[in-house]
Amino acid sequence: MTHYNKVLITGCGRGIGASVARELTQRNVELVALNRSREPMEALMASLGDGARITPYYIDVTDFEALDALLEQVCDQHPDIDLVLLNAGLDTPQRIEHFDWRIAKAQIDTNLTANYVFAARLLPALLKRGAGRFAVVASLGAFAGCPFEHAYNASKAGARMMIDGLRAELLESPVGVTGIYPGFVATEMIAGNAFDSSQALSVEDAGRIIVDGLLRGDEEIIFPEEMGQLVSQVVTMAPLERAQVVRQLMSSDFA
Ligand SMILES: NC(=O)c1ccc[n+]([C@@H]2O[C@H](COP(=O)([O-])OP(=O)(O)OC[C@H]3O[C@@H](n4cnc5c(N)ncnc54)[C@H](OP(=O)(O)O)[C@@H]3O)[C@@H](O)[C@H]2O)c1
Repeated sequence: MTHYNKVLITGCGRGIGASVARELTQRNVELVALNRSREPMEALMASLGDGARITPYYIDVTDFEALDALLEQVCDQHPDIDLVLLNAGLDTPQRIEHFDWRIAKAQIDTNLTANYVFAARLLPALLKRGAGRFAVVASLGAFAGCPFEHAYNASKAGARMMIDGLRAELLESPVGVTGIYPGFVATEMIAGNAFDSSQALSVEDAGRIIVDGLLRGDEEIIFPEEMGQLVSQVVTMAPLERAQVVRQLMSSDFA
């Protein structure tokens, strides 16, 4: 079992991030919490009580220069971070008839490019320290392009390539890299996207699965199991068969 003392986590005011933050603080882990909105973060900290050790910072991760400057400060103030968990994410489905590339770009900036700003600051710090893990919440959507969701899929597939490439690059180093690939989890994100998510997992279960996997030092955390199995079949299908199967995953409001 791996033990973490101090975890940097992003996007933890609500959703999966808040559940992971709750699990970690219950296991006495200290958090450096980067959130965009102040209100949900303050509400989470109040609900966790005085025992929880959390240092909050407020940043929009798509303001890359401001993020870079903040991370330089965070690395100076917290040289003992031993797990980086990039969770902040954005999913905005769009029909191609009314497509706005700016909305697609916002997803790629949030879900992929920002990860590189974190990698550029945090990975050298972990390597200097000689220990630690760099983990990214991607998605099972990283494995298949879906209608209305392809910009999100592209951003998460990019994150998957980043994760795999970094793992290979750091193979001989003391720093590990974990890819986290959730299916449907009942959060505000899933309520607003184009999938039929009636079978979504609870955030509590998702938080527990992620933290257990990180504590085991898993290289990949894929859940729920049945959806992981479906995706592993989809990637082997011929293009038109793949297109038909992913269409069946979409909500009737969209499809
Ligand atoms: N829910 C699912 O079914 C599912 C499935 C697969 C993967 N995932 C991934 O899991 C992660 C968490 O998703 P979720 O479902 O918990 O989403 P969520 O409930 O919508 O929460 C998203 C979090 O990301 C933060 N965020 C978004 N854009 C940001 C930005 N530009 N700068 C800083 N923070 C930003 C939000 O902060 P604010 O509160 O300030 O908006 C919020 O804390 C995401 O990476 C998502 O892609 C989710």
